[in-house]
Amino acid sequence: MRYTYYGHSCFSLETGGKHLLFDPYISDNGLASSIDIDAIEADNILISHAHFDHMADAERIATRTGATIISNWEIYEYFSKKGFASVFPMNTGGKAEFDFGILKCVVAQHSSSFADGKYGGNPIGFVIKSDDCNIYYSGDTALTLDMQLIPSFAVLKYAILPIGDVITMGMEDAMRAAHMLSCHKVIGLHYNTWPNIRIETEKATALFVRNGLELLLPEIGSSLDL
Ligand code: NI
Ligand code: MN
Repeated sequence: MRYTYYGHSCFSLETGGKHLLFDPYISDNGLASSIDIDAIEADNILISHAHFDHMADAERIATRTGATIISNWEIYEYFSKKGFASVFPMNTGGKAEFDFGILKCVVAQHSSSFADGKYGGNPIGFVIKSDDCNIYYSGDTALTLDMQLIPSFAVLKYAILPIGDVITMGMEDAMRAAHMLSCHKVIGLHYNTWPNIRIETEKATALFVRNGLELLLPEIGSSLDL
């Protein structure tokens, strides 16, 4: 499985020839100006919640690629009403089988509203079980005891977690989450995009190492083989 980081909480996973794009927010992210948004491949676009910094570019990328948008019921309705034909509704606790593997939607402790203030449904995290490996992307969330349930569904190779604090978990809670998830390898995101979530990345990676964990912080535009 190949992970490519597009800045903030936007990344793609490539598995079995399929491209899964998560939480597209690129064109308004000054740190991601090197990314050519119109060159990103996507067979599926997965959206964790309706906040602008997780879906601002979903419409543009879905229009160009014809990707299937996968999200909660309210985001499904939003894109269906706009005329998108390929939208797949899920919700917290549900799982479904796709050509890339099994996808389960799990609890995220956060809020979710569209840019116009309308209700955006429950925020969700995603667990992906594929032939390559199993991955958890928490979306925006607090540390929550619900995370302890995830290893009983999937033995994780990587957890993709926010570390920027203030509006999501910070580095200390992401470390606690890794222990709850029985997953020693974490990829951090949702940091440094704005001044209020700026962190000292060396401090974060050192904290993880001291606790027997690994924190990966790939550069925007770079890829990792998971
Ligand atoms: Ni959010
Ligand atoms: Mn966010």
